[in-house]
Amino acid sequence: MSRAYWKQRLKDAFLVLGGGGVLFSSFLTIKGDEHFYAQCVMPILQQIVSPELAHTLSVKCISMGLVPLCRRHDSERLEVNVLGHRFRNPVGLAAGFDKHGEAIDGLFKMGFGFVEVGSITPKPQDGNPTPRVFRLSQDRAIINRYGFNSHGVEVVKQRLIFRGEKQKLLTAGKIPIIGVGGVSSGLDALQKIRAGASLVQLYTAFAFQGPPIIGKITRELDRLLLEQGFSCVSEAVGADERSNV
Ligand SMILES: Cc1cc2nc3c(=O)[nH]c(=O)nc-3n(C[C@H](O)[C@H](O)[C@H](O)COP(=O)(O)O)c2cc1C
Repeated sequence: MSRAYWKQRLKDAFLVLGGGGVLFSSFLTIKGDEHFYAQCVMPILQQIVSPELAHTLSVKCISMGLVPLCRRHDSERLEVNVLGHRFRNPVGLAAGFDKHGEAIDGLFKMGFGFVEVGSITPKPQDGNPTPRVFRLSQDRAIINRYGFNSHGVEVVKQRLIFRGEKQKLLTAGKIPIIGVGGVSSGLDALQKIRAGASLVQLYTAFAFQGPPIIGKITRELDRLLLEQGFSCVSEAVGADERSNV
């Protein structure tokens, strides 16, 4: 067999393996595989794009509905009723990701129980000069110095009206707590709920681990609620306080 023959075979093998690899990676990306996102997709993305560009591109893709499939059905245990609203699960996206209310539908499609839009300023403003967002990869942390860049309240209000959002506040004297800061697992969420939060939200873990983090947290939370004998989230709200009296 000639050298050219083996060279061609080697090329074919690389093509088949490479093609298979690309196909398999695409499958895991679309499927929203937790480990694949945490170990491959997000670290590679972070190597090639700056934090702000990654953020802008993510919001764009999500606003166009380009999100991993979420076929997961939240269990009834995760359902919460707060301020007269029904939430399919208590895990939401914190302020600062969808600052201008552009990707709400896609974010719900990914599995978030609620989405906080903003912060929104009264008038449009650019925020600080760039660079203004920094990753501390080893600490899995983000430094935010956006300086409240915002399309302004009028523009965002029109967007929300277009979506059919209605402001409805029925607090009946009770103000629910939303737990935020360092939520990246079901246990983190439950600790905040047991301490009195009715809902929890996250940002950094979503930025580092990608969309599959939502399914991971809700699945773990559901299992923990069951293990700790709670039939629903609201039964667990403030459980630590009650056991302290
Ligand atoms: C890049 C970035 C931008 C943020 N922008 C806002 C904002 O506009 N308004 C706000 O109230 N919080 C903002 N936050 C704070 C988050 O909403 C959240 O409270 C905080 O990141 C702690 O949660 P975490 O540990 O899950 O990230 C921002 C956070 C980050 C990382």
